[in-house]
Amino acid sequence: MSVNAHEDLLAAARKAAETAYAPYSNFRVGAALLFADGAVVTAANVENASYGLSLCAETTAVARAMADGRRGGLVVVAVSGPDAEDISPCGRCRQVLNELAALDGGDPLVLGEGRNGVREWRLSTLLPDGFGPDSLG
Ligand code: THU
Repeated sequence: MSVNAHEDLLAAARKAAETAYAPYSNFRVGAALLFADGAVVTAANVENASYGLSLCAETTAVARAMADGRRGGLVVVAVSGPDAEDISPCGRCRQVLNELAALDGGDPLVLGEGRNGVREWRLSTLLPDGFGPDSLG
């Protein structure tokens, strides 16, 4: 995937952040998931008055994709926070992303915007030895 395509996906994540429901933290996050068929699924964080029930952008994006029937094919995940704050998926989101990725043995690239540019990792680096669908025997 080209650098331009990375930029496009990050731009989609930035745009998705505008739809965040984040009245408590005011920390608006967007996520954009690129699939092998070229589809892009975006979402933003959705907070709750019971703060601990808030959902991150990456989690809502995975839920949206899976509710659309997607089961694997996840190639790239882009995440964007406010004012290019350094961002990478939280631990829970790493686990949620792993579920979708593991369904077809994928190991998506994860792009996180930051103060010093875009950082990138493989999901397996962010979540080594993850617990996934195969772990239940
Ligand atoms: N948040 C995300 O949506 N994604 C992340 O990767 C980190 C944190 C959200 C959760 C909460 O709504 C707000 O950012 C502040 O933690």
